[in-house]
Amino acid sequence: MTQITIALTKGRILKETLPLLAAAGIEPLEDISKSRKLTFETSVDDVRLLILRGSDVPTYVKYGAADIGVAGKDTLMESGAEELYEPLDLNIAHCRLMTAAIKGVPTRPGRIKVATKYVNIARKYYAAQGRQVDLIKLYGAMELAPIMDLADEIVDIVDTGNTLKANGLEPREFICDISSRLIVNKASMKMKHESIQKIIDAIEAALAVSA
Ligand code: PRP
Repeated sequence: MTQITIALTKGRILKETLPLLAAAGIEPLEDISKSRKLTFETSVDDVRLLILRGSDVPTYVKYGAADIGVAGKDTLMESGAEELYEPLDLNIAHCRLMTAAIKGVPTRPGRIKVATKYVNIARKYYAAQGRQVDLIKLYGAMELAPIMDLADEIVDIVDTGNTLKANGLEPREFICDISSRLIVNKASMKMKHESIQKIIDAIEAALAVSA
């Protein structure tokens, strides 16, 4: 039997991915959201799920510790996931990558400070604009950085915009649309082609029905 390992992350991506996996006949044998466990058996004997930090999903798949993963395009762009296959846009967990700053405060001319967990994306974005920035790496609560004068702007994902608003910030420039993608390890795609293609096809069919 070919063992297939699928890497997921808790939260919105998990919630929206489980119905797609269920349509492919893959259902966890226990409630993932109520467990502290990190690995889960499924209704399919040779398919198991891993629950990881979102930013670790591309790493597990890249090195083949997981065969398949679901990750946000933001995470994939930031990690520079060129060595992965990305066969499907799952069309879930939609949001936008934006710059944001304190509401009503005009952008300072010249070099600005930008706080973000997306330093690679931000570096490319500002360079493409020909703007010089000092990047400050943060791991969360980016919205605080302009308020506390740590940075002039942030680069973060925006969904409803409520988090920015609640903290006195406003979205400024649109960088790109984000959604979650199915990613596959390149060697697994060759070695376990039949099993993996079956899962991809079933998820693709489920996406077509829900479209
Ligand atoms: C993201 C992002 C914002 C928020 C935006 O955080 O960093 O804080 O969602 O959503 P909104 O526009 O609907 O308010 P998330 O909850 O994903 O947690 P994170 O900080 O761990 O990324």
